[in-house]
Amino acid sequence: MGDVGTKALWVVAAGFVAAFLVVAWNKYGPESKPKSTAYPGSGYSEDGLHAKPLSEYPERAEIQHAEWVDSFFSFPFEPQGDVPEGWNEVEGSLSPDTCMLCHPTQYADWKESWHADAMSPGTLGQLVDWDDHKDGLVGQCQTCHAPLAEQHPKTVSDAPVTTDEHGHTKRTYVDNPIYDPDLREKGLICASCHVRAHQRYGPPAESTLPEGTPQPHGGFTGVEAFNDSRFCYSCHDFKPNQKALNGKLLQETYEEWRRTSYAEEGTSCQDCHMPDGRHLWKGIHDKDMVREAIRFEYEVEDLGTETGELRARLAITNIGAGHRLPTYTTPQITLILEQVDAQGERIEGTETLGAVARYITPNLKKEYFDTRLMPGESHGVDYVHARHSDAVALVGRVEVWPDEAYRRFYEIKLRRPENHPLGKAQLEEALRHCKEREFTVWEETTRF
Ligand code: HEC
Ligand code: HEC
Ligand code: HEC
Ligand code: HEC
Ligand code: HEC
Repeated sequence: MGDVGTKALWVVAAGFVAAFLVVAWNKYGPESKPKSTAYPGSGYSEDGLHAKPLSEYPERAEIQHAEWVDSFFSFPFEPQGDVPEGWNEVEGSLSPDTCMLCHPTQYADWKESWHADAMSPGTLGQLVDWDDHKDGLVGQCQTCHAPLAEQHPKTVSDAPVTTDEHGHTKRTYVDNPIYDPDLREKGLICASCHVRAHQRYGPPAESTLPEGTPQPHGGFTGVEAFNDSRFCYSCHDFKPNQKALNGKLLQETYEEWRRTSYAEEGTSCQDCHMPDGRHLWKGIHDKDMVREAIRFEYEVEDLGTETGELRARLAITNIGAGHRLPTYTTPQITLILEQVDAQGERIEGTETLGAVARYITPNLKKEYFDTRLMPGESHGVDYVHARHSDAVALVGRVEVWPDEAYRRFYEIKLRRPENHPLGKAQLEEALRHCKEREFTVWEETTRF
C-alpha cells in the first residue's frame, strides 16, 4: 500500500490519470452513491461517505494484547543475533524451507498464501529501482512485506542523525552486513510472526514431545495474543498519525472489525482467515471466500416485452466479511447489467455499472467515492434501459477485480519505463497478474 513515502511518486503520475478519473467518475460516480441500509454501528456518517470517529463507538473488544503485539512487531526489527550455543544448523536457520522440515502442514498452506507472495513482482519491481537511493522508503515498505532485519539490504548507520533546513531528520544508510537476499525474496516468512532473537513464539499449547526429549529450537513460548485479532493490526492498519482521507486511514481493517458485531461476539481475524489454525489467509482473491461473504439479490421487474423498456435491480449485501467489503482501497467489486445478442456478445451502450470500492486518486489526495459495505450493508444498481432490437437476453453479473487500483497504478508507471529500468519486467508481470486475477463471482442470464 502506498504511504507517505510513495506520495512523491504518485504525484508525478497524477497528471496522467486526471483524464482517466473524469471517465471513472462519470462511469461509477453517480450510480455508486451508497444506497446502504444504515444499521447501528455501520461506521458511516449520514451522507454515507465518511467514517464516524471511533470515539462514537463504545469499546467493543478489549485490546488486551496490544502492548505485547506492539513490542513484538516493533519496526525495524532487531537482528536475531548469534545462534544460541548448542543449536545445530537446522535449528539456527531462519528460512521457511527449514521450518518446513518439521512443520510441513503450516508450510504447505503458507506457500500458497498471499503472505508468501509479499515480495511479489509488483512490490519487488518497485523496490529494486529504489534500492540504491531511497533506503528509507525501501525500509518502510519492507516493515510489512519482509520485516526481518536479515531481509533488508541496507541498515541505518551509526552516524548521528542530522536535520535538514526543513527540519526533516536525515539518516544515513550503509550496506547491511547480515543481509540475506534469498530470504528477502521469500517475503513474509514464518520467522516474521514466530521468531525473535532465535526464540520461537506461538499460540499456547501443551508440548507434544514425550517428557525428557530435548526440544528442537529450545522449545517455544506460548502467547495468547496469537489468537487475538490484534496480532494482525501492525501490518493491516496504519497508525492513527499516518495517511488518512475523509477521516479514514488508508488501511484500518482491525479498526473496522472492532466496530462490527463479530468483534462483540469474539469472532477473530484468525477464525475466518486461519480456520483450525491453517495458514491460508484467503481473501478478496479467492472466489469461494468472496462468494460466501456476499448475498446477491437480483430481480428482473420488466422484460420490456410490451413497454420496450427493461427494468431490473441487482444488489449485494455483506453477510460474511468481518470488516468493510472489501477492506482495502485497491479492490473493486463491479455490478454489471447488460443486454446480449444471439452470439452472447455484449451490446455496446446497454450496460449499467455499479462499483463497490473506495476509489482514490493515485496521488492519494482525493477520494471520489466510498461504497464499501460494513457487515449488513447493501449496495445496488437499478437498470432502466430501452430493449435493443438485437438483444436476446439480459445479463446480471458481479465481477471481482482484486487489484484494480494497482492495475491503474502499473499502467501509469509503465508509461515511463526509464524511471524504473531494473523493475520494468517485474512491473509488466504484475500488471498481467492484475488482469488474470479478475473473476466473475455471480452471473444470471434472463432470456426474452
Ligand atoms: C528439527 C525440527 C524443527 C524445525 C526445523 C523447526 N521446528 Fe518448530 N517445533 C518443532 C517441534 C517438535 C515443536 C513442538 C515442541 C513441543 O511440542 O514441545 C515446535 C514448535 C514450534 C512452534 C510452537 C507451536 C505452538 O503450538 O505454539 C512454533 C511457532 C515453531 N515451532 C516455529 C518454527 C519456525 C518458524 C521454524 C523455522 C524458522 C521452526 N519452527 C523450525 C520442531 C521444529
Ligand atoms: C508482518 C506484517 C503482517 C502481519 C503480522 C499480517 N499480515 Fe496479512 N498481509 C501482509 C502483507 C504485506 C500482505 C500483502 C501480501 C502481498 O503483497 O501479496 C498481506 C495479505 C493478507 C491477506 C491477503 C488477502 C488478499 O487476498 O489480498 C489476508 C487475508 C491477510 N493478510 C490476513 C492477515 C491476518 C488474518 C493476519 C493476522 C493473523 C495477518 N494478515 C497478519 C502483512 C501482514
Ligand atoms: C503498514 C503495512 C504496509 C506497508 C508499510 C506497505 N504495505 Fe504494501 N501491502 C500491505 C498489505 C496489508 C497489502 C495487502 C492489501 C491488499 O489486498 O492490497 C499490501 C499490498 C501491496 C501490493 C499489492 C500486492 C502485491 O504484492 O502485488 C503492493 C504492490 C505493495 N503492497 C507494495 C508496497 C510498497 C511499494 C510499499 C512501500 C512504498 C508498501 N507496499 C508498504 C501492507 C503494507
Ligand atoms: C502472518 C503471521 C504468520 C506467519 C507468516 C506464519 N504464522 Fe504460524 N501462526 C500464526 C498465528 C496467528 C498462529 C495461531 C493461529 C491460531 O491458533 O488460530 C500460528 C500458529 C502456528 C503454529 C502452531 C500450530 C498451529 O498451526 O496452530 C505453528 C507450528 C506455526 N504457526 C508455524 C508456522 C510456520 C512453519 C510458518 C511458515 C511456513 C508460519 N507459521 C507462518 C501466524 C503466522
Ligand atoms: C467473519 C469473517 C471475517 C473476519 C472476522 C475477518 N475477515 Fe477478512 N475477509 C473475510 C472475507 C469473507 C473476505 C473476502 C471478501 C473481502 O475482501 O472483504 C476477507 C478479506 C480480507 C482481506 C483481503 C483484502 C480486501 O480488500 O478485502 C484482508 C487483508 C483481510 N480480510 C484481513 C482481515 C483482518 C486483518 C481481520 C481482523 C482484523 C479480518 N480480516 C477479519 C472474512 C473475515
